[in-house]
Amino acid sequence: MRNIISLCLLAVVLLTSCGNVEPRIIAPGEIWPDNNGVHVNAHGGGLLLHNGIYYWYGENKCDTTSSAMVGVDCYSSKDLVNWTNEGVALAVSDDAESDIVRGCVLERPKVIYNEKTGKFVMWFHLELKGKGYSAARAGVAVADSPTGPFRFLRSGRVNPGVMPLDLQGEEAKAKWDALDIDKYDKNRNPQAEEWWTPEWREDINNGLLCKRDFDGGQMARDMTLYVDVDGKAYHIYSSEENLTLNIAELSDDYLSHTGKYMRMCPAGHNEAPAIFLKDGTYWMITSGCTGWAPNAARMFSAPSIWGPWTQHENPCRGEGAEITYGGQSTYILPYGDNFIFMADIWRPKHPSDARYLWLPIQFDENGVPFLEYMDKWDLNTFKAVEEAK
Ligand code: GAL
Repeated sequence: MRNIISLCLLAVVLLTSCGNVEPRIIAPGEIWPDNNGVHVNAHGGGLLLHNGIYYWYGENKCDTTSSAMVGVDCYSSKDLVNWTNEGVALAVSDDAESDIVRGCVLERPKVIYNEKTGKFVMWFHLELKGKGYSAARAGVAVADSPTGPFRFLRSGRVNPGVMPLDLQGEEAKAKWDALDIDKYDKNRNPQAEEWWTPEWREDINNGLLCKRDFDGGQMARDMTLYVDVDGKAYHIYSSEENLTLNIAELSDDYLSHTGKYMRMCPAGHNEAPAIFLKDGTYWMITSGCTGWAPNAARMFSAPSIWGPWTQHENPCRGEGAEITYGGQSTYILPYGDNFIFMADIWRPKHPSDARYLWLPIQFDENGVPFLEYMDKWDLNTFKAVEEAK
């Protein structure tokens, strides 16, 4: 009898304590105040979990321009809901000669931790001041502490003079040799042919723009970083005028590229890549290329980081699915057994007011990821608040 009473008491205690778990609400599209009551300013960003603390790095956006006037901000949190402003992790420079001089375009920063060196490594998309989006460079910075200060190392195009994995072999070489890099380039050839024809697609597929940029290195714009289970890190970026994604291996210290890289989805026009691994399958969610305006997300899967990558349907379901509910992917955070899809709702007329769209990734009966919009959801249950009650 005494045992039964103890068990009942235990059950009551457990039930009450479960019922008392504070909801941790994520509200896409709203103002997300930091510890100072100010909307988090970390756009196009990514997260790093280090020693039990989440660090959120992103573009500091000011009120009037999307150019970098401050640099990369860092916030920290233990619960993904309460964020402490840790200040500027990577500051733009006042030296006019610096690649990252104030007024440059510095976008989509991501930070990874290198176990071997004990350093925090940041890569980002860099456009040189006053040159629009023509530089298409990757920049790298390093720090001893997660909150910085990060020291800028260099910027440049990627993997100059190196053939990608997907264009190796006799047959690919013969097609590559036959490519005429001026054929579709209106700036270099008044008789240039139209883009988006089947022939053009075939030429892009065979490496037309990769060949054009071969000596100087591949273009690198929207990007993410991914550290695999074996500790190898990859830089995934929009290349070839945003037509083709590149997946490029980083060196052991994560500070440079090894020269091993692969082109993914040539002429697919993907931006904003975000990636996660679940049960041995790599999933990538991207956007199309419509600048700050939202478009339909795309999704791919592969059994290895090196592919083959298969395209799936738009992962978004329900109202707003065709514009990713107003957002553009930036990062996917593993969270226990779950994954959080993170996106930006851009406000180009008032850049600092851009909002965040975080949603739980759900899986269908075949294990294929999908997203549904939720006004408010609880990080404890990964369910919309109405359902969680
Ligand atoms: C988006 C891109 C952003 C930014 C913007 C500029 O497509 O994802 O990071 O570069 O274009 O128009």
